[in-house]
Amino acid sequence: MDKLKQRGIVIIDYGSQYTQLIARRIREFGVYSQVLPYDCSTEELDQHRPAGYILSGGPSSAYDTAAPRLPRALLQRRKPVLGICYGMQLLTHTLGGSVAGASHKEYGPATLTHAARSPLFDGLPEELQVWMSHADRIDQPPPGFRALASSDNSPFAAIGDLSRQIYGVQFHPEVQHSPQGGAMLSNFLFRICGCADHWTPGAFIEDSIANIRRHVGQEKVLLALSGGVDSAVAGSLIHRAIGDQLTCIFVDHGMLRLGEAEQVARVFRDEQGMNLIAVSAVEDFLTALQDVTEPEAKRKLIGGLFIDVFSQEARRLRDVRYLAQGTIYPDVIESAANSQAAKTIKSHHNVGGLPKDLHFELVEPLRDCFKDEVRKIGAALGLPESIVWRQPFPGPGLAIRCLGELSWERLEKLRAADAIFTSELAASGLLRRGTAQSFAVLLPVKSVGVMGDSRSYEEVVVLRSVTTDDFMTADWARLPYDLLAKVSARIVNEVPGINRVAYDVTSKPPGTIEWE
Ligand code: XMP
Repeated sequence: MDKLKQRGIVIIDYGSQYTQLIARRIREFGVYSQVLPYDCSTEELDQHRPAGYILSGGPSSAYDTAAPRLPRALLQRRKPVLGICYGMQLLTHTLGGSVAGASHKEYGPATLTHAARSPLFDGLPEELQVWMSHADRIDQPPPGFRALASSDNSPFAAIGDLSRQIYGVQFHPEVQHSPQGGAMLSNFLFRICGCADHWTPGAFIEDSIANIRRHVGQEKVLLALSGGVDSAVAGSLIHRAIGDQLTCIFVDHGMLRLGEAEQVARVFRDEQGMNLIAVSAVEDFLTALQDVTEPEAKRKLIGGLFIDVFSQEARRLRDVRYLAQGTIYPDVIESAANSQAAKTIKSHHNVGGLPKDLHFELVEPLRDCFKDEVRKIGAALGLPESIVWRQPFPGPGLAIRCLGELSWERLEKLRAADAIFTSELAASGLLRRGTAQSFAVLLPVKSVGVMGDSRSYEEVVVLRSVTTDDFMTADWARLPYDLLAKVSARIVNEVPGINRVAYDVTSKPPGTIEWE
């Protein structure tokens, strides 16, 4: 059995939006965790001989006849168990306590008081801020359990049977809004379960390599490399696993940042030794995009053309069975939201929608990872900082930052201004920490200025820089005035055709991060 996975945790998923967040918190402590569906087999449950189990939250009511149940063998294993929200209610219902709809549903912050001594709250202050999100509550804990903590609306906000090491909490220790949640989880992992903490990015890499080799065998794999961190790390990982069985395709559509195409070729072909096909399709893209100014039309056209170019190259390579993608966990959530017919604000582009004759099977080694974990894995794989710390860049590239008509000349102007902004941010340390995404936008608007002794009438560049954790909401970055002054002076002096620089002070919502 894999030594790195020993004494880890199995998380049973009951459909909570936070299940992967629990897994991630556990990985942050260096402990291996595996998420399994509630109807998993006993064999799966026992596969890595976990040191304990966590039951996630979920939308069901434990007292409903059709509600999801505990895996049959789980309690027979006599290992520590922590039920979170629905997980706690399910334990209560299963073990003979009573769960009912709460007269006061609790959503949002709550103050928790824990009085009884228990290893779960060991070393934590008596009053804790926690995040609640539940409609049902415990009326009566099962025999052998006692209350460990309470809140205004939940007399049994945490319960435990200390002799059997079974615990339940009504709140969500895994979310940021439960600031002591990490310390409580750490108590469960190390004090209660005796977990081992040797799960590192290096261990993840080792494990992924073994999985990729097993999954892919001798078959060929194709990857669309964008130069962004996710596809770069996925590519590097797969290349480690299967070497020349992997071919990467990089499409230069002409809407890349300054020096990006050259950098991709240098890093991946020359330094990493990967099989890289770089396709220059600038002419095709720019011709197709002539006179297209409407943002959604731009996106659709670029997405469609990208798929055409990619498919053409893919057909040329014979016998490719797998398509690798740098899908990360937030993308999985986003596409789930899309499948529930969420409103389209902007149609994001990836390699989905390939023609039917190219029926690839998918390889997505980063599917369970969050962005910061991907960066750590990239660094452990030896990718350069300029790739690992690259800020996110949209598939349609500069096309959606070059407002109005696209021409090579305008794209070059934007590239130059963007490079000045990013290099100054990098020099001040703000590219890697302090801003999540920063870029320049070129407006299709001219304004009057005075340069030397003459009147100028040129285009306007807007600088956009935001802080955000998840890119779903964002705030504009409070950049130092001196930095803005320097960037502005350099842009108007060094980039012909721009005579005015503005800074975007709109949060998201109501704005979006990109301008189109
Ligand atoms: P918005 O503008 O929707 O952007 O606030 C949120 C994040 O998504 C990125 N973005 C895209 N990424 N294809 C991508 O791969 C796209 O079409 C696309 N549009 C926006 C954006 O850069 C930001 O990080």
